[in-house]
Order: sequence, then structure tokens, then C-alpha cells
Amino acid sequence: MVQVMRALRVSRFGGPEVIKMRQIECPVPQVGEVLVRVRAAALNPADWKLSAGLFQSPMITLPFTPGFDVAGVVEEIGPNVTGFQRGQAVIGWTRRGSFAEYTVVPAGVLAVAPANASFGEAATIPTGASTAWQGLFDNGNLQAGQRVLVQGAAGGVGQFAVRLAKWKDAYVIGTASTSNVELVRALGADEVIDYTATRIEDAVHDVDLVFDTVGDATLASSVQAVKRGGTLVTIAGMPSEEKVQEHGINVKSFGVVVTSDLLQNFSQMVDDGALRLLVGATFHLEDASRAYELCQGGHGRGRIVFTVSK
Ligand SMILES: NC(=O)c1ccc[n+]([C@@H]2O[C@H](COP(=O)([O-])OP(=O)(O)OC[C@H]3O[C@@H](n4cnc5c(N)ncnc54)[C@H](OP(=O)(O)O)[C@@H]3O)[C@@H](O)[C@H]2O)c1
Repeated sequence: MVQVMRALRVSRFGGPEVIKMRQIECPVPQVGEVLVRVRAAALNPADWKLSAGLFQSPMITLPFTPGFDVAGVVEEIGPNVTGFQRGQAVIGWTRRGSFAEYTVVPAGVLAVAPANASFGEAATIPTGASTAWQGLFDNGNLQAGQRVLVQGAAGGVGQFAVRLAKWKDAYVIGTASTSNVELVRALGADEVIDYTATRIEDAVHDVDLVFDTVGDATLASSVQAVKRGGTLVTIAGMPSEEKVQEHGINVKSFGVVVTSDLLQNFSQMVDDGALRLLVGATFHLEDASRAYELCQGGHGRGRIVFTVSK
């Protein structure tokens, strides 16, 4: 049994400088949990926001190990877990911190990893793909042949939104800055708009659905792009109620819920060649401050990933 491990720790709220490498006790899987040897872990904007103290909740207590998304290998199985075996490659989502050599993941948020992907690629799936799926399909009810605008199409969520919307046979318009235009085209978008050169409200009208992953000023252009009676799904703030009424659109916002079923579906899609994965940048845990700085900059290409152990 592993006794101690290396893990990133946040002992006080602040910028990238508060993320430190520490030796801590290895967690022990309890009922319904699996101990995973972490091979790769994805860095989401939620991670820097949490470390910065932007999410206040009684459930967040210092010090903590950050990281939600994980890809790794089953090391130990807790009581009452069926369907997983020691040595199996898995992907999952945990509140116990994935920026460490080991983490525990509830079996209900764990799935077999795609056979046709590296651990780094697989780690991009849990939050990114689940958020895109729930945004486009569960909340946006996107149908084949409909037109969808993805705001922030180059991001860790946006990249999956473009690919999943194309998989659904929708017509996809993506927005990105100049340096990410070619990337979004390569993801499969039918049209890409460089928001630094063109006002979105001048270029896009009457789409069935907008999926806004950017927020702030972007929300106003999202409202204008939706057709009357259409839907705006946002994961980054809400537009003004007055504008929503004026344009006669539906607005939905949600918090992602990752499940085994959803993760298994994505693994299958990857193995079937229906979904491709993209790692934006790779860091070791020792370079966490640089990774957090990049993430906080908000202009990444795909998902930032920590490679953890061999
Ligand atoms: N509610 C939820 O459950 C949930 C789940 C996941 C994420 N989120 C939130 O959703 C947001 C996006 O997450 P993410 O993981 O995709 O972030 P990310 O990987 O950092 O990507 C953000 C993307 O936004 C693009 N961008 C920035 N300004 C833009 C603009 N004005 N117009 C168009 N694109 C712009 C950037 O590309 P360019 O360089 O091309 O600008 C970048 O690729 C974050 O705020 C995150 O916290 C919420």
C-alpha cells in the first residue's frame, strides 16, 4: 500500500504562486471509491478560480489538493465497487484532487479510458466533453441540420462543442482570436469568425443555438445572434434580462454533472473514431505556476494537461 505521495497543495487563496508541491498522505479508498494512480490530469479554469478564492463554500477548506479531471490506472478498489479491476486504465472526475500521484474517485464518476488515446488526451475528456455535451444536447436540444454558434471554440470546452456539434450533423460557426482560427477550422467548424477582426453581431444572425463559453461582453453578441424563439446556453454568466426579453430568446445556464455513463460514452466515441482529442499544452506538476498562469490568461488552445507519473 502506498503511504505518502507528491501532490500540489493550496494552503492559502491567491494567484499561481500559492500552488506548492508537497509530500502528503496517500488517500485510502472508502466504500464506493477507487484509488487511481494518476498518469495525467487536466487543468480547468475552475482550478485557478478555486485557488484564487473565487468560489466560496463551506465545502472548500484549506489546505486542499486541486484538480478534478483525471486519467490513470486503478491501483486499489474500495468496498462495494464492481466493474473495475486493478491495472485498468480509467478516466474520472473527483473532488479529492487529481494534481497528485494518487487520487480517489467515486466509482460513479469513473469509466474505462479510451484504448486509442494517450493518458494526456484522455484527461481532457471529463469536464470538457461533459460540459459540451450537456450544453449542446441536454440544455440546447441541438438537432441535426440546425445552426449553432460556439463562442470560445478553441477552449477546453469549446473544442468539444465544435466536434460534438459536427458529430450531430449541425452547421457549426466558431469564434476565436486570430491565432486560433486555423485550429477551430481543423476541429471541423463550417465557419470561423476571428472576433478580433469582426464583430460577432455583424456576422452571425438567426442561429438556432448559441453555446457561450466566454461570457462578459460576448454575451451581448450571443443574444443578438440567436433567432427569435431560439436558445442561448451559457456557462459563463447571464445576459441582461431586458435584452433577453427584447430578442424573445430562451436562456439556459447549468453546472456540469460528470457521470460514468457519459464518460463511457465518450471513451466509446473515441475508440470508434467519432471523437478526436486535443491537448493544448503539457506541464509537469513541478511547473504548476506556469500552467496556472497560462490557464488564467484565458486564451488557450484546447486543454492544458499535467503529466504526472510513468
Ligand atoms: N458551468 C459549468 O459547469 C462550466 C464547466 C466548464 C467550464 N466552465 C467555464 O466556462 C469557461 C470556459 O471554460 P474552458 O475550459 O473552455 O476555458 P479555456 O480552455 O480557458 O478556453 C477559453 C477560450 O475562450 C476563448 N476566448 C477568450 N475570449 C474570447 C472572446 N472574446 N470570444 C471568443 N473566444 C474567446 C479563448 O480563445 P482565444 O485565444 O481564441 O480567444 C480560449 O480558447 C470558463 O469560465 C469556465 O470556468 C463552466
